[in-house]
Amino acid sequence: MANSKIQIAIDGPASAGKSTVAKLVAKHFNFIYCDTGAMYRVLTLKALKANVDFADEDALMTLLADTQIGFEPGEPVQKVFLDGQEVTNDIRQPEVTNNVSTVAALGRVREELTNRQREIASKGGIVMDGRDIGTTVLPNAEVKIFLIASVDERARRRFADNEAKGIHTPLDVLKQEIETRDYKDSHRKIAPLTQAKDAVKVDTTPMSIEQVVDEIIEIASKKIK
Ligand code: DC
Repeated sequence: MANSKIQIAIDGPASAGKSTVAKLVAKHFNFIYCDTGAMYRVLTLKALKANVDFADEDALMTLLADTQIGFEPGEPVQKVFLDGQEVTNDIRQPEVTNNVSTVAALGRVREELTNRQREIASKGGIVMDGRDIGTTVLPNAEVKIFLIASVDERARRRFADNEAKGIHTPLDVLKQEIETRDYKDSHRKIAPLTQAKDAVKVDTTPMSIEQVVDEIIEIASKKIK
């Protein structure tokens, strides 16, 4: 069957619902799901543990060369591993969230993680989410989606997610953090967050998860032969 193992790239700003949606789309098509933000978070967590300065790119590269990042299917979220140890919850802690954009702005870090992401996606049958998948990591992806939602709505979603995990951060603080991260992700020099020319923009502000998933499945189904 030709072209059944397509690549689906889902990009967009923080808390637009990318990972929830991407995981469900992957499940529908029986594709692999890869959360590239988790890869930047894993390195940030390792740097925090090793007391490595986030601005010291040489030290981060040495750390990364010796870092294994693994994924395993899991419910309700994909499991993430750092050097064989599960860090699914650790990488979502505020200390990681507030420093990850600094790490993700470093050119050589991005180059190495981009190579790893291309390797993961090389056989197709993949849904990959991030900030630069459609523009940089997989420019030939058959399906490119750019997911957006208002800052208020994204802060509300993150607040609900956090509360469910027992993390208590006030809504206005989350809104501020999201705005700061949006700014950093969109203004960095290398592979900033931008919509690929051939991406379909989906504003999820008024939509349920199911509606977003259905829309992406409909778009992708037209590309799968
Ligand atoms: O999606 P997330 O919040 O888990 O992403 C964490 C950080 O990593 C975010 O600040 C942007 C960055 N990132 C990136 O620069 N490129 C990607 N492909 C994915 C994430």
